[in-house]
Amino acid sequence: MRYPIWRIGVFVAAAVWPLLWLYEAWSSALGPDPGKVLVDRLGLGTLILLLITLAMTPLQKLSGWAGWIAVRRQLGLWCFAYVVLHLAAYCVFVLGLDWSQLGVELSKRPYIIVGALGFVALLMLAVTSNRYSQRRLGSRWKKLHRLVYVILGLGLLHMLWIVRADLKEWAIYASIGALLLLLRVPPVTRRIPRLIAKKPPSATKA
Ligand code: HEM
Repeated sequence: MRYPIWRIGVFVAAAVWPLLWLYEAWSSALGPDPGKVLVDRLGLGTLILLLITLAMTPLQKLSGWAGWIAVRRQLGLWCFAYVVLHLAAYCVFVLGLDWSQLGVELSKRPYIIVGALGFVALLMLAVTSNRYSQRRLGSRWKKLHRLVYVILGLGLLHMLWIVRADLKEWAIYASIGALLLLLRVPPVTRRIPRLIAKKPPSATKA
């Protein structure tokens, strides 16, 4: 089958959350300020999807299963879809589509500038994620797509600026991000296949 069922499962799993949150907002299940809750959930969803996307290559190296890579592009595009919804929810529910407030907002919440830089970088990756761009850009494509680590840094900084005192949740995402970054350092990456090869035969047979 060209499009296996589990890939459709990934699509449904990513699509269901924003729909559920919109339904909750509509049915007044998100408290007195549903717009803000929606913005926060979509922002966190963007960061989590970014981390999941970045985990695909190390998982493929660890397990040897090509399926992780097959689904990486779809997850990256979902990450972009979430950030578009995050931005749209901010424009509608926080700004109230009143663009004259934008200047005030930027001076009141400078972390938005950091988020906006992350958005532009994600947009660049999304529009060049197709095979045509890959062929046209050649080796530059890989370099461009290393921007994903910059986006992770911007996303974490953006969140840190917002949560400030309550660092527990932020520290979890930052640690996962740091681990994924470490796994991309060439001497560490080179050791990953050896870790699998060194498994005792009984462990692989089971
Ligand atoms: C133009 C782009 C962006 C705008 C305007 C924006 C705006 C916002 C706003 C207004 C909040 C809520 C702040 C609050 O609770 O007081 C927020 C939260 C957040 N945003 Fe963004 N953001 C943008 C891009 C991004 C990007 C690129 C990422 C991730 C890569 C991201 C991840 C987050 C996270 C993780 C939170 C915190 C959620 C939580 O506390 O539960 N945002 N953003």
